[in-house]
Amino acid sequence: MHSVQELQKIINKAITDTVYTEKPAELYEPISYLMDIGGKRMRPVLVLVSTELFGGDVTKALNAAIGIELFHNFTLMHDDIMDKAPLRRGKPTVHAKWSESAAILSGDVMFVEAYKMIIRVEDTILREVLDIFSRTASGVCQGQQADMNFENRGNVSIEEYLHMIKQKTAVLLAGSMQIGALIGGADQNQARLIYEFGENLGLAFQLQDDILDVYGDPEKFGKQVGGDILANKKTFLLIKAKELTAQNQSSELAWWLDGKTHDPIEKINAITSIYDSLGVRKLAERQMEEFVLRALAALDEISAKNDTKILLKNFAESLLVREH
Ligand code: IPE
Ligand code: IPE
Ligand code: MG
Ligand code: MG
Ligand code: MG
Repeated sequence: MHSVQELQKIINKAITDTVYTEKPAELYEPISYLMDIGGKRMRPVLVLVSTELFGGDVTKALNAAIGIELFHNFTLMHDDIMDKAPLRRGKPTVHAKWSESAAILSGDVMFVEAYKMIIRVEDTILREVLDIFSRTASGVCQGQQADMNFENRGNVSIEEYLHMIKQKTAVLLAGSMQIGALIGGADQNQARLIYEFGENLGLAFQLQDDILDVYGDPEKFGKQVGGDILANKKTFLLIKAKELTAQNQSSELAWWLDGKTHDPIEKINAITSIYDSLGVRKLAERQMEEFVLRALAALDEISAKNDTKILLKNFAESLLVREH
């Protein structure tokens, strides 16, 4: 069994060894840029851990793991255009550094590169892996569109929010683990349970991402703190805050959310202090813990090597106390 650090080393080397030298350079340079500035690379780790969980050989899963990370980075490249984000992993976003057109087209070709890596899995499971990957990719797009639609809607419910984050974020964690498990030789039932683990972990992960977007340390977070507030993103924090102030017709929150042009810093500070006074962070953390418990319950049911299960549990928990 490999430790998480060893798996990260294997992944880091595979990413460094994959170079994009095709032409035109403007199409490929942003791929190398975004891949090389790092990130936690947790999805490929989850692929490899899932393979090992069922006694499989990680070298057989490495291409798929890199394909998943390429896909994830493609979604970030396009997400940053949609979210008008200036920073990613502490560096300028691709559209800010090059142009929106460059970020759109580099992202497109990155998606193709991701497929090229994924199809290197063994022939016997190729169709099934492609099916999971394609369904996952559609789910992410559906979630992203819902996220964008919600920016202009005032009445988004917690239920709709949870469905949206399940698609934009959780299906990729779940799909990554399902693909890893398949390569490792898991049966249908085990693969279903690992999917359930990944999905609940993904829900908790996105809740934490939303919390960090408001409360992260700008030095460590690597993204613009307050970006979700500026975009009127319907996060758990905002939906809860609206619920708690619904009786108040002329609420201060409603004033900051209306179409007027507000000073960005003032808006971030004002909404953050409304969140503070309502205690919505605690509510989001409680919801997050609930998903973690559900994830761990699914893991408990999996009959696999206990040491790998413990490693997975610890890794999952470490992601939820992260600072970036
Ligand atoms: C960011 O994902 C997008 C979300 C789903 C919240 P990560 O937090 O995994 O980003 P990196 O890859 O580590 O930078
Ligand atoms: C991430 O949502 C979902 C995808 C990239 C598909 P966010 O917009 O919250 O991700 P960050 O915060 O920019 O990383
Ligand atoms: Mg987004
Ligand atoms: Mg974003
Ligand atoms: Mg976010």
